[in-house]
Amino acid sequence: MFKLLTAISILISISNAWSPTDSYAPGSVDCPSYLKNDDNDTHVGFLRKASSISSDELNWIQERDNITLQPLKDFLNGANLTDIDTDSYLDDIISNSTARLPRIALSFSGGGYRALLCAAGQISGLDNRTDGNAETGLPLLAATSYISGLSGGSWFLSSLVYNNWTSIQDIIDQNGQDDAIWDFEHMMLDPYGINIVKDAEFWDDISDDIDAKRDAGFNVSMTDPWGRCLSHQFFPDLEDYGASMTFTSLRDWDIFKNHSIPFPIIVSDGRSPGTKIISLNSTVFEFNPFELGSWDSTIESFVDLKYVGTPMDGGKVSGNGTCYAGLDNTGFVFGTSSTLFNQFLLQLNTTSLSGLAYSAAKSLLTDLDNDENDIAPWVPNPFFNSPWGSSHSIKSDDSLYLVDGGEDDQNVPLYPLLVEDRGVDVIFAFDNSADTDQYWPDGASLMNTYERQFVNSSANYAFPYVPDTDTFLHNNLTAKPVFFGCYASNLTSLMKEVDTTYVPPLVIYNANRPWSFESNTSTFKLKYSDEEKLSMIQNGYAVSTFGNLTIEENYPRCVACAILQRSKERQGIEIGDECKECFDYYCWNGETYNYTNDSYPSDFTKTGRYNNTISTPSKDEELNLSSSDSSDAGADVSVSSTSTANGSNPTTSSDSGFTAEAVSSGSTATVSSISSTSKNAGVQYNSPVWINFVTLVLGWFALI
Ligand SMILES: *[C@@H]1O[C@H](CO)[C@@H](O)[C@H](O)[C@H]1NC(C)=O
Ligand SMILES: *[C@@H]1O[C@H](CO)[C@@H](O)[C@H](O)[C@H]1NC(C)=O
Ligand SMILES: *[C@@H]1O[C@H](CO)[C@@H](O)[C@H](O)[C@H]1NC(C)=O
Ligand SMILES: *[C@@H]1O[C@H](CO)[C@@H](O)[C@H](O)[C@H]1NC(C)=O
Ligand SMILES: *[C@@H]1O[C@H](CO)[C@@H](O)[C@H](O)[C@H]1NC(C)=O
Ligand SMILES: *[C@@H]1O[C@H](CO)[C@@H](O)[C@H](O)[C@H]1NC(C)=O
Ligand SMILES: *[C@@H]1O[C@H](CO)[C@@H](O)[C@H](O)[C@H]1NC(C)=O
Ligand SMILES: *[C@@H]1O[C@H](CO)[C@@H](O)[C@H](O)[C@H]1NC(C)=O
Ligand SMILES: *[C@@H]1O[C@H](CO)[C@@H](O)[C@H](O)[C@H]1NC(C)=O
Ligand SMILES: *[C@@H]1O[C@H](CO)[C@@H](O)[C@H](O)[C@H]1NC(C)=O
Ligand SMILES: *[C@@H]1O[C@H](CO)[C@@H](O)[C@H](O)[C@H]1NC(C)=O
Ligand SMILES: *[C@@H]1O[C@H](CO)[C@@H](O)[C@H](O)[C@H]1NC(C)=O
Repeated sequence: MFKLLTAISILISISNAWSPTDSYAPGSVDCPSYLKNDDNDTHVGFLRKASSISSDELNWIQERDNITLQPLKDFLNGANLTDIDTDSYLDDIISNSTARLPRIALSFSGGGYRALLCAAGQISGLDNRTDGNAETGLPLLAATSYISGLSGGSWFLSSLVYNNWTSIQDIIDQNGQDDAIWDFEHMMLDPYGINIVKDAEFWDDISDDIDAKRDAGFNVSMTDPWGRCLSHQFFPDLEDYGASMTFTSLRDWDIFKNHSIPFPIIVSDGRSPGTKIISLNSTVFEFNPFELGSWDSTIESFVDLKYVGTPMDGGKVSGNGTCYAGLDNTGFVFGTSSTLFNQFLLQLNTTSLSGLAYSAAKSLLTDLDNDENDIAPWVPNPFFNSPWGSSHSIKSDDSLYLVDGGEDDQNVPLYPLLVEDRGVDVIFAFDNSADTDQYWPDGASLMNTYERQFVNSSANYAFPYVPDTDTFLHNNLTAKPVFFGCYASNLTSLMKEVDTTYVPPLVIYNANRPWSFESNTSTFKLKYSDEEKLSMIQNGYAVSTFGNLTIEENYPRCVACAILQRSKERQGIEIGDECKECFDYYCWNGETYNYTNDSYPSDFTKTGRYNNTISTPSKDEELNLSSSDSSDAGADVSVSSTSTANGSNPTTSSDSGFTAEAVSSGSTATVSSISSTSKNAGVQYNSPVWINFVTLVLGWFALI
């Protein structure tokens, strides 16, 4: 019976998970008939100029509009807007041939397993398949058109999509069973723990996969074992753990053909060996079920992802004319988006592996290790001699070098969702970055995406005004959902840079914060007990639902206002009192945090204004302050305290409800009492669990 079930599951997996060799190795295939088409200004062979979205995507997303309509109506009805009859509003739009329906997108940041688990919780808050969602959630997942992820966010996204769009509820329900998705009790390097026989088999299988790819004539790199290791954790139900499952095979899955999932996009950055990228000069690549490419002027083209692996020159088949497919293994794609592997794979000696298993793993990894082991080379380079794009360094190389999508510090993959043709009206940006010293986000990702729009190499896009990270932290913008770009009328000077018809989406920013669990785990935490895993997910649920809808009962209504805003603006409909009230509350009001003194600590943006640790600081805690810190004494203190410290009196700039007393001598200050009604970068919304933890230390610098 077991054998029979296995046989059936193989059949299912193979029919869905297409690779030309039914293995990890790419293989030769018939060339697609469109190659016979004549070249023109926008198409050459496998390549297409990035002047619009592909016709495949355009058709797909229009069909998706048809599917999202009813869930959208349901969500808006549940939100009880009184100023507008949302059903008839949407029906009018459908009957108006020049109007279009609102489109919703979700975007999930990187951050290793932390990002994966936070994202899982966050999406479960939006999914009507989660138990209790009707009462405590925002069921708008079924109304969503696009979903993007990078690095840890791409692991999360691929896990859902390529497990047939399973729900987080299902994953939770299966927790602890054999072959359960997301068993993180052991590292991906020794998934069977001390069962070294199974671990040895595991490494043997991975070795075989990699040999098969090499034997087929393809380059192998650290990204290969990396993607394969992760795939064992994400696709445990597949007989081959996803070895034969290609990213583009999704085109043939029912869930995609029926348009019943949002259009998935995974982000990665371009970087040549020996160079560094910063947000301003990165080339942002995206993988979607149809294509790989970049909207940036450096590349400005897309290739049919299915045939990547074929030697191409100027978009045409080169070599002896043979076409190849199967290089786009799903694990290889999300492995490319998350090239943190040097941090992980090199921890082999901290695992419980020994004997055969250890040597198998060791020889494989040592073999593949090199100086640039955080780069995923895609060889042959599909953009070789591309007729479009300005980057000669990328276009003249045999390899396309891709790295972790977060390397340019735009850790929330917003950029693909800003493409005008995609018609996204509202983006829910889920930021699970570890920006501050305590691994909480500080809005840096949004700031970088904002700044990048003014750089030439970035394609035409606009992104709403956002403040600096100090303001994010100080003004509590990471503590509750915040809307950016609420009124198109305020964005016209940004839009002018692009073209006057383009209006950037409204962005709803949701930062990871502790509601019920300390979810600020390290990006390099490799193991999660089942309990920790569930706690992370539960906390994420509260992040996306603003505390399970317990904080502000009008939140769903305000989300509904945000979803409809761009559409109403297009139709020339006034915002109305109800939504105006929402926006007054949830939109960033344009205020930035003003320093009272320019000489604030140099690591300010890195550490954040608020200490995010949730442990109760002890009384009489001693702080050793260096002399350079002393010069910052009194700079912008968000602490209300009485202090006998040297330096200026911190009470002059109190604003956050902290009370501290300190005594100091020289460069050492001893805090004698600290209390607060808040915690975290943002603070005021504590779920009951944390009421006990409301005491916290802040504004150390003030106490010198
Ligand atoms: C260029 O060719 C592609 C396919 O080869 C076709 O879809 C497209 O419409 C053509 N564009 C123009 C401007 O002729
Ligand atoms: C949307 O669905 C309706 C009813 O099912 C159908 O008549 C229509 O052709 C569909 N439109 C698109 C663009 O698929
Ligand atoms: C969730 O929403 C979808 C789409 O509206 C609907 O088909 C499905 O029945 C709903 N499921 C539950 C459990 O409510
Ligand atoms: C909307 O109205 C219904 C019925 O009056 C009520 O049960 C529900 O809680 C309301 N929802 C919101 C978000 O106010
Ligand atoms: C149809 O939609 C367009 C643009 O969205 C709008 O300008 C126009 O007024 C609408 N027409 C009607 C009859 O509502
Ligand atoms: C929020 O709702 C989810 C889903 O029903 C539940 O798992 C979680 O425990 C709730 N959290 C709190 C703090 O009540
Ligand atoms: C995938 O999910 C769809 C819809 O939920 C279902 O119809 C289909 O049978 C599933 N496919 C597999 C292989 O489980
Ligand atoms: C990006 O800019 C940084 C700093 O100016 C520079 O060091 C780096 O080489 C640039 N990278 C690329 C790929 O141009
Ligand atoms: C093309 O070259 C590949 C590898 O070099 C070889 O395996 C294949 O048989 C060749 N095909 C033809 C049609 O010559
Ligand atoms: C593991 O190996 C690295 C170098 O590969 C070394 O720096 C580190 O100290 C080793 N750790 C242990 C626990 O042996
Ligand atoms: C944005 O526009 C609205 C309405 O047009 C206006 O009330 C508001 O003051 C503007 N906000 C900013 C920050 O400019
Ligand atoms: C941030 O939250 C704290 C604690 O609740 C509050 O005292 C402070 O006024 C808030 N700051 C802003 C700018 O809203």
